[in-house]
Amino acid sequence: MYGHRMLLRAGDLDLVMRPYRPDEAKFAVAGFETYEVMKYLFPLRSAQTLPDEEVFLERIRNDQDQFLWAICVVRDGEEIPIGSTSIRIDGMRGLSGIVIYDKSWWGRGIASATHLARTLYAFDVCDLVAIDSKVISDNAGSLRALESVGYCRTGTDYHVKMAAGRVRHAIRLTLVNPSDRAWNYFWGDSDIPTEFLEARSVARAALGRARRIVTLP
Ligand SMILES: CC(C)(COP(=O)(O)OP(=O)(O)OC[C@H]1O[C@@H](n2cnc3c(N)ncnc32)[C@H](O)[C@@H]1OP(=O)(O)O)[C@@H](O)C(=O)NCCC(=O)NCCS
Repeated sequence: MYGHRMLLRAGDLDLVMRPYRPDEAKFAVAGFETYEVMKYLFPLRSAQTLPDEEVFLERIRNDQDQFLWAICVVRDGEEIPIGSTSIRIDGMRGLSGIVIYDKSWWGRGIASATHLARTLYAFDVCDLVAIDSKVISDNAGSLRALESVGYCRTGTDYHVKMAAGRVRHAIRLTLVNPSDRAWNYFWGDSDIPTEFLEARSVARAALGRARRIVTLP
C-alpha cells in the first residue's frame, strides 16, 4: 500500500511524498540500471527494468504490510518522481528503506528531509514503537541521514554483499519512538544503553522539526 501525501521542503526545494501513479515506473529505470545507484542496495543484486519496476509497484499497491511513497521534486507545479522510500510493518516495528534513483538530486538534503516525514508518519500515523534499518557501512550519506533523525547503531551484519570489488558489511540501526508511551513500552524495566538515551534527544528534536516542515493535507 502507499502512504498518504506529505508536503515538505529540503532547503529551497519543494518536495511531495505521495503514492505512485500509473505509468510512473519509467522514472526509476535509468537509475535502476546504473550500478552506482544499486551498489549499496541489498539483497537486490540485478538491474531493474521497466517491467520489473511495474510489477514491483503493483505488488506494493497490494501489500498490506508496507507503506511506500514516491519522493517527488515539484518544478513548475509538476511533481517529478526522483526516488522511493518505504516502511515495512512487522507488528509494532517497522523496517525503513530509501533510494533516490535520480542521482542528479543526491547531496541536496532530500534523504534527510524525507526521513523526517517518514518518521513522523511511522510514529504519529502508524503508531510504531520502533523502526529498524540496515546500511552498508561505506554508505556515509545514508548513515548520516538516518542518524540525524535518531537512529542508533546496534551491531554489524558481516559480508552482506560484494560491491565494487570489496566485501561489504552492514550496520544495523534502530530508532525508538521517543514518546513516553512508546519509549516505556519498548524498554520496559530493562537498562537503557546510553547511546539510546542520546538518540532519544536527537529523535525528539527531529520530530519537532518534522512537525514544523511536514504537512499532511
Ligand atoms: C543514500 C542516499 C539515500 C542519500 O540521499 P541524499 O538525498 O543524497 O542525502 P542527503 O543530501 O540528505 O545527505 C545526508 C547527509 O549525508 C551527507 N552526505 C551525502 N552524501 C554523502 C557522501 N557521499 N559522503 C559523505 N556524506 C554524504 C550530507 O552532507 C548530509 O549530511 P548533513 O546533514 O550533515 O549535511 C542516496 O545517495 C541514494 O539514494 N543512494 C542510492 C541508494 C542507497 O544507497 N540507498 C540507501 C540504502 S540504505
